[in-house]
Amino acid sequence: MTAEQHTGAPVGRDVHAGAGVRRTVASRLTGRVKLVYLYGCPPRATYVKNTAYAVTVFSHTRGQETVGKYFSRGDLGRRGFAAERLSSELFGDRPWRMPVTRWHRRGFSVPRLPDAARLDLACRSMTSAERGRMGAWALDVLLEIYLAGYLHGDLQPHNVWFLDGRPVVTDFETFGRRTPGIPFLASGDITGDDPAPRDRPLDPAFDPDDDWSFHHVLGVTLDDAVQLLRRDLAASSSAADRRKLDALEGRLT
Ligand SMILES: Nc1ncnc2c1ncn2[C@@H]1O[C@H](COP(=O)(O)OP(=O)(O)OP(=O)(O)O)[C@@H](O)[C@H]1O
Ligand SMILES: [Mg+2]
Repeated sequence: MTAEQHTGAPVGRDVHAGAGVRRTVASRLTGRVKLVYLYGCPPRATYVKNTAYAVTVFSHTRGQETVGKYFSRGDLGRRGFAAERLSSELFGDRPWRMPVTRWHRRGFSVPRLPDAARLDLACRSMTSAERGRMGAWALDVLLEIYLAGYLHGDLQPHNVWFLDGRPVVTDFETFGRRTPGIPFLASGDITGDDPAPRDRPLDPAFDPDDDWSFHHVLGVTLDDAVQLLRRDLAASSSAADRRKLDALEGRLT
């Protein structure tokens, strides 16, 4: 399947169950009250999507258009929110992480970007060399997270956005400690397997059998990305890149 044929992740919009079904004012109001009660999101926000433990909404923060993710009170919601906060404490200053516009009691908001700025859509106008670079970039980010002792758990093209021209990673609710001693290329973000128990399955970045992976959406295989990144890291004299190369080659676990 080519990237053009790929339908991919739905783009954000006001989604209502049962397209074409008219909802009464009362049912809309009840739905809204439930969202505010369950997730603590602002009453005027536009509903986009929800899972068992979080809701995504379009909203405004200090006059800026933002996207908010708000978490439910239960254990799953609490852990998802804690994962987002931890990833921000550890990597909030990195150029590759989506900046948080504002933290809320049980959620956070990030800048709202145009749909076309999402990598799975933006890649449609990229050359194959540019797609390869994006694959190597994603692998580089995963190596940095790996070396810090963590995994992202859902780094796929629909969770990468272009912000002011640079790619940024979002959606860290599956972020967490990885099991030490496992070589990078056998680790959770690559294989989807990590022995530690988790709330949600891991979605590896380059899985050839996953419609949403770099392999499918960008047509960049894990081998392509490894080769490109290996070449870059080997040509660099920085100590950080040496460590990354050691991890990529399995010399550092
Ligand atoms: N910063 C953003 N700007 C504009 N739209 C966004 C932004 N972040 C998310 N969205 C849109 O909101 C919708 C829901 O995103 P969300 O991250 O909650 O789920 P998802 O990406 O579909 O799945 P996943 O749980 O794997 O991340 C998607 O259509 C996404 O494109
Ligand atoms: Mg997402």
